Amino acid sequence: MTMTMGMPLFLIFLVQIASVAVASSDLRPGFYSKTCPEAEVIVRDVMKKALMREPRSVASVMRFQFHDCFVNGCDASMLLDDTPTMLGEKLALSNINSLRSFEVVDQVKEALEKACPGVVSCADIIIMASRDAVALTGGPDWEVRLGRLDSLIANQEDSNNIMPSPRANASSLIDLFQKYNLTVKDLVALSGSHSIGQGRCFSIMFRLYNQSGTGRPDPAFDPKYRQELERLCPLDVDQNVTGNLDSTPLVFDNQYFKDLVAGRGFLNSDQTLFTFPQTREFVRLFSRHQNEFFKAFEEGMLKMGDLQSGRPGEVRTNCRVANARPAHLLLESPHKMEESNDE
Ligand code: HEM
Repeated sequence: MTMTMGMPLFLIFLVQIASVAVASSDLRPGFYSKTCPEAEVIVRDVMKKALMREPRSVASVMRFQFHDCFVNGCDASMLLDDTPTMLGEKLALSNINSLRSFEVVDQVKEALEKACPGVVSCADIIIMASRDAVALTGGPDWEVRLGRLDSLIANQEDSNNIMPSPRANASSLIDLFQKYNLTVKDLVALSGSHSIGQGRCFSIMFRLYNQSGTGRPDPAFDPKYRQELERLCPLDVDQNVTGNLDSTPLVFDNQYFKDLVAGRGFLNSDQTLFTFPQTREFVRLFSRHQNEFFKAFEEGMLKMGDLQSGRPGEVRTNCRVANARPAHLLLESPHKMEESNDE
């Protein structure tokens, strides 16, 4: 048989078909209008219940979009549990002891599987649920593009290499976002997601006690705010203790940016956006005009949601595990796989 770079030609052909099937240009609003017309209502309903049960959980779910889409596209790879042969992304550096509320996605998936089995991907659930988290906490509401497939694998190493540290400064964040065609404005707007939710003492200890190895706190702190954080996170604290990312952590609004202007940003990666000249003007703009923030945030979320790896995929029935399939079909297109599953 003819081989190209070690791969039989027919397999290359199949992989290419699958890639086309997940091109971001195929994503569109109303993707499930015929196959699962209630999909968006179901997702919002479960998110509403999550918000009532534990208000922070919707912020935790919203964070999934960032941690999913930056690592090999929006393909729910982040939701896969470890297997004996695969280290998943849940235990990657930025995720371990930090990403939470996976059970909310499970509840959404369960409700969707009941209404329309095998139709709505976990990758699309993340996108809808993130939008809903924002809308339900007072932020903008927008139409999302759908039609993503779920990955067959996860990659812990890629997550370790890609996801930024809370210590990051604005110039490294600008460079990272640029790799995904996200502008400086997108970076600042998307960081406004920290208008809701919390972070751990773990993420700010260096900032409080040893910024850049100086043995001193970050000089950008407002002194009163720094004292508050020192009380929350003393040197001998359990570093899983959490603090609010802005002063209105249950409301999606532009308070986050007002806090940055006042030197009251929680993470170094937040406060740096006001310290650096390239990002400062956007922080100022969003702190003064909430509507500008909301508009830019929507745009950023849509652009980030379009990131795709072009790899083969499927619609998982359980967001935590890839669907079972015969090993010889692993490289084939999703449609092929579905046909063979039906046999
Ligand atoms: C710009 C680079 C970013 C960095 C360095 C960053 C880093 C972090 C860190 C360190 C935490 C706290 C984690 C902990 O202490 O356990 C956090 C929380 C959070 N992040 Fe980001 N983040 C960034 C961008 C984003 C983006 C783009 C989004 C979503 C669009 C997002 C959404 C969130 C949310 C909602 C929380 C709170 C989660 C909760 O309460 O469970 N972040 N982020």
